[in-house]
Amino acid sequence: MGLMARTGFGGWKSRTTFVLALSSSAVGLGNLWRFSYLTGEHGGAPFVVSYLLCLFLIAVPILIAEVVIGTHGRGSPTVAIRWAADRSLLSRNWMALGVLACLTGLLILSYYAVVAGWGMAYAGYMASGVFAAASALSVGEHFDNFLASPRELVYWQSLFLLMTVLVVSMGVRRGLGLLVWIAVPTLMVLLGVLVVFGVENGDVKAAQEFLFSVKLIDFSAQSVLVALGHAFYTLGVGVGAGITYGAYAPERIPLGRSVMAVAVFDTLISLAAGLAIFPIVFANNIEPSMGPGLLFVSVPYAFGNIMQGELFGTLFFALVVVAALGSAVALMEPIIRMLMQHLRWRRLPAVGLVAGVVWLLGLGSALSFNIWQNDHWFGNWNFFEVLDVITADLLLPLVSLFTAILVGWCMRAEIVKMELYREADLFFVLWRFLLRYAAPAAIIIILLASVRSVLS
Ligand code: TRP
Repeated sequence: MGLMARTGFGGWKSRTTFVLALSSSAVGLGNLWRFSYLTGEHGGAPFVVSYLLCLFLIAVPILIAEVVIGTHGRGSPTVAIRWAADRSLLSRNWMALGVLACLTGLLILSYYAVVAGWGMAYAGYMASGVFAAASALSVGEHFDNFLASPRELVYWQSLFLLMTVLVVSMGVRRGLGLLVWIAVPTLMVLLGVLVVFGVENGDVKAAQEFLFSVKLIDFSAQSVLVALGHAFYTLGVGVGAGITYGAYAPERIPLGRSVMAVAVFDTLISLAAGLAIFPIVFANNIEPSMGPGLLFVSVPYAFGNIMQGELFGTLFFALVVVAALGSAVALMEPIIRMLMQHLRWRRLPAVGLVAGVVWLLGLGSALSFNIWQNDHWFGNWNFFEVLDVITADLLLPLVSLFTAILVGWCMRAEIVKMELYREADLFFVLWRFLLRYAAPAAIIIILLASVRSVLS
């Protein structure tokens, strides 16, 4: 089975497809919404600097490690990890790490699809002119009413999931491979248009002030942890997507540089998103709200009250959906591959099963905004909040930590080096150092901090 796993595996023929696939996994709701409000909240420029350091010194090395496992083992997270373990004479129990990664992806996808569904709904609302000249109050009420309706939320969640299922069931080449060639350029064009629109019609100075001025009062040790957590989230490490996509990558590509390119691209998209959103928001003299309210209240209000806002607002939410789709596919593919390889299932039944489970779990999140709003599943968190905290603060760092230990400490260095032979020696030495020391230390700090905040 070992060799079987490595061959006969219809992967991508071009390096670009691989880079685009990782990029479409990285760019998602996190870029369009989380990055900019976190920056505003945590003191602007110092937050951006600590985010960049966390991204390149910790998250990128871990994503490279995931991809190394994938190109070495050429299989789903579990099969690739088993191959890596066998070749380095390690225990096969390491496969549990692959299972954990895939399950983490499934849990994230369950609520990710719910929020992405809101994006689809809002593309429709913008197009139909509901928000034209609406007051801030009525846009807020619209969002509250929308969230209060389980039927609406479940409808849009299902529709978004259906789109994801369509792409994933078409397979690695025709589904994923084709999607990324369409989605990434579309995303860039839409965002480009929106930035130009924002700069021409909005208050760029206020946006710059919000995003890039130095407000040290708002910056604390906590901010660095938030920056680190966001670096992991936005790059999409910790669910085995790097392993799975690495397995589809063509042979002999420079892995390190490819992953760095993805990180640079992802950051540029986040910055551009800030430039598309905040000038428009500030032009209307409203304080940007934080959290979901930014995307679903401030943004629709702002577009609704600007010339040609309907058109550009619709484009904006189309952008949200395209970006979320690439991430959703990346969250689903690892577990599909795992089921296919272990149970010897065909793709379609595997997709059906996973989509069913994701949909059911997603119902819990959709209901958390209405019927179950005040049902506390843990402490005073509802279902959605529990899932969010468990995945982002616990499972993602945990999977990343063990990935760093596996590749940095346990796999034989010669094997690892072979996968990275296209990179300079200095690059390899530096990368391995970060993976062995910096990454585990940083992750253990986040884990301790999250445990402390959960217990307090
Ligand atoms: N990176 C995506 C975003 O910014 C979300 C995402 C995709 C993700 N794959 C992931 C998050 C894996 C965590 C883990 O929205």
